[in-house]
Amino acid sequence: MAGVELTQVHKAYGTTAVVKGISLTIASGEFISLLGPSGCGKTTTLRMIAGLETLDAGTISIGGDVVDGPSGHLPPEKRALGMVFQSYAVWPHKSVAENVAYPLLLQGRPRAEVARRVAEALDWVRLGSFAQRMPSQLSGGQLQRVAIARALVGSPRVLLLDEPLSNLDAALREELRGEIAALRARLGTTMIFVTHDQHEALALADRVAVMHQGVIEQIDTPERIYQSPSTPFVAGFVGGANRLEGRVEGRQFRCGAHTFVLPPGVAAVEGPSTLAVRAEELELGGEGPSLPLLARLFLGSATEYRFTLGDTVLRVVGPAREARPGESLTVSLRHARLYPR
Ligand SMILES: Nc1ncnc2c1ncn2[C@@H]1O[C@H](COP(=O)(O)OP(=O)(O)O)[C@@H](O)[C@H]1O
Ligand SMILES: [Mg+2]
Repeated sequence: MAGVELTQVHKAYGTTAVVKGISLTIASGEFISLLGPSGCGKTTTLRMIAGLETLDAGTISIGGDVVDGPSGHLPPEKRALGMVFQSYAVWPHKSVAENVAYPLLLQGRPRAEVARRVAEALDWVRLGSFAQRMPSQLSGGQLQRVAIARALVGSPRVLLLDEPLSNLDAALREELRGEIAALRARLGTTMIFVTHDQHEALALADRVAVMHQGVIEQIDTPERIYQSPSTPFVAGFVGGANRLEGRVEGRQFRCGAHTFVLPPGVAAVEGPSTLAVRAEELELGGEGPSLPLLARLFLGSATEYRFTLGDTVLRVVGPAREARPGESLTVSLRHARLYPR
């Protein structure tokens, strides 16, 4: 197992820059998640670490050795990494055991060693009794566990996972998330896990790097990413905060024709600002603007109320109460974050 270091990495396709100067230091044994919306450059970054894409500028080191940079490009098969993709990429005509054995056979390992290591890797993903099954006899979750075993069987220095759970239905995704956490605790392998799903990133990673348009906006522990998002984008993407453009005037936030009262404890700088507030940090009643209700959605443990505010939709989550679309209700802030512009 090894650490990974990216220094000022750039990549463009044609004239479109997709990775714009990413620097990132991942410690040996660390579990990092690259989190961001579709198209922000996560896969490109992971593929550069794997050696499947070349860099336009910058350097990448693995285990202290430069694998990409001005001095050259080490091909993927010499990087000793494991990789798992969204599509399971399991060979349909090979059995589970043959699929997992493949990387070791390529390396020309002796048969006894292959058999031992395949059994061990299948045990890690709890597929020990499925060794002779064919892929067509497995569920999506089991296929992805085969792909994980195949990526781990050669004792990679780093395991790279690109949206490995995104093809699974919600229940399986949840289950496999637990499997990955357990595997990680057991093996201690350095892992880089790419996802657009904030819940996966927050639940699994030691640190989360939130990416947006080819740059890392914030890299921090899941707790700090969630509690102290450093930009409006991070606040909106992680935790789904409403974002309002307006002005701070004293202890008020003016947004078009509407005025919110800033609760004590919200740091405010006079002038133009973006206010980020999560649905559960707003409440019905209190001191604030009266807004027309657009829709009321029962969520089970709570109820979501959607309001029209200028040309945006404001989401509020709170206890169930009677309210009809079209009716005006007062909305107030319990907490919020301000980002001066
Ligand atoms: N081989 C390619 N040629 C041209 N454009 C590409 C190629 N691969 C990715 N892109 C573009 O680069 C951007 C980043 O892609 P990607 O790294 O796959 O994002 P993500 O994994 O975050 O969804 C996207 O706009 C995508 O369309
Ligand atoms: Mg991708």
